Amino acid sequence: MKAMRKFHPGSRSAIVRSTLTAALLATASWGWGQSFTGRWATSQRTLDNGEQDLTILQLTQSGDHVTGVIKTLAFQHPIEGTATGNHLQLMAPRNPERTFATGELVGQNLEMVWRHRTLVFKPAATTEDIPAPAYIPPPPLKKIPYNGLAKTPPMGWNSWNLFAEKIDDATVRQIADAMVTSGMRDAGYIYVNIDDTWEGTRDAQGNIRPNHKFPDMRALANYVHSKGLKLGIYSSPGPHTCGSYPGSYGHEKQDAETFAAWGIDYVKYDWCSAAGIYKNDQLEAIYQKMGEALEETGRPIVFSLCEYGLGHVEQWGPDVGGNLWRTTDDIRDEWTSMMGNAHLQIATAPYAGPGHWNDPDMLEVGNGHMTTAEYQTHMSLWSLLSAPLLAGNDIRDMSQATREILLNREVIAIDQDPLGKQATRVAQSAESETWLKPLAGGGVAVGVINLSDGPRNLTVEAADLKLPGPPSRARNLWTHTSVVFTHGAYSETVPSHGILLLRVGPHAG
Ligand code: GLA
Repeated sequence: MKAMRKFHPGSRSAIVRSTLTAALLATASWGWGQSFTGRWATSQRTLDNGEQDLTILQLTQSGDHVTGVIKTLAFQHPIEGTATGNHLQLMAPRNPERTFATGELVGQNLEMVWRHRTLVFKPAATTEDIPAPAYIPPPPLKKIPYNGLAKTPPMGWNSWNLFAEKIDDATVRQIADAMVTSGMRDAGYIYVNIDDTWEGTRDAQGNIRPNHKFPDMRALANYVHSKGLKLGIYSSPGPHTCGSYPGSYGHEKQDAETFAAWGIDYVKYDWCSAAGIYKNDQLEAIYQKMGEALEETGRPIVFSLCEYGLGHVEQWGPDVGGNLWRTTDDIRDEWTSMMGNAHLQIATAPYAGPGHWNDPDMLEVGNGHMTTAEYQTHMSLWSLLSAPLLAGNDIRDMSQATREILLNREVIAIDQDPLGKQATRVAQSAESETWLKPLAGGGVAVGVINLSDGPRNLTVEAADLKLPGPPSRARNLWTHTSVVFTHGAYSETVPSHGILLLRVGPHAG
């Protein structure tokens, strides 16, 4: 506007010039000639421990294609996306189909919408970067003895899927109360697990302290224990957790001792920023370090490895004292995500067994973005897969449908079968797939999933069950009724994305 005023408003040349200038300004604000190339930084996010998170985006634009790196205290990922004028769409680092963040150039800044928040990135000074901690070499490999826990897949609840950072002492106590009153505890859901964002800062001696949301961890553990439940917690082998809170890097033994002193019964250990320090062939040694530290406390603590299936964790998980290990990226409350995580279990099936389980991530049942039929399939598949059953919903407020899914004792019995075999997929078509799990005592559980968009008549063929004789007894575990195989098969109509789940054999009721 200032430039326009210089050219005598009203004169012909001024009008031409002002029109041109306005057009140029408009073009610039639409991004023509502007670029996303550069280093952008924001430290807008204040963590619950009072520290500031730092996020750096390092981008290069070529045509409409944008490549680069996103770095936070927690992680560093290559990233790709598309620029359309002044609009930017970045795709998820490990899933190029999914939008991870969107952004807009606004003046000098880049405003990104990420995890439902708008973050204003400013052009970054060259000195502004994520601090690199001193390298601590991993220990030599050795076997950590089995801790005797998790003979069947762990069952309980975890705060992350629904509450994320909105978790605190009061909510955990209410969840513990609800675990009892809802019947979840008596159905076997014992662990109440606090996920990320409980961490505060370290004291002068390096001891980790909880942040203001958890005033007294020992008192909380006592409360949870008084309800006949167990308490779980979360940390990372890196300097920061996935939520950018302090991790156990360089404090493994000290943190294990702190957890034991608080009365913790379960530790989920999440790779996160360790990826910026160590390579995948060092995963085993790094997890072993915490496995050993937990074992040395003398307290029985379930050790849950969370490294998204990197480095064939299923092959060495038990050697580092692991009782379960994530085999997938984070689950989302969506049919495709849930099924995708289940499919990743196919290769790992031989490695599951009493004391050590593949973990396709926590349950989303009751979180609202799948149908009842889809949640029944989710619960059934996790049970067929001998997966940990960690509810991820608000136990204080469950619909009847959610209760009936999570508290279906016949399905839970499939998950908790003492033989501890993981189901394999034995048949598959565009419309359905069939999973088969051998059970203790010689029976099987079989699930046929309707993959199509409408109801379908699905069939279990007796010959597919690999039983020594014709199926004598069979039970539908969702209708809770006995069923009869005629002419070597049993059929039923199943809604879209639903499952026909049968127990066949001696204990089929
Ligand atoms: C990772 C894990 C999740 C959860 C979050 C917490 O994404 O895979 O299960 O623990 O970190 O930050």
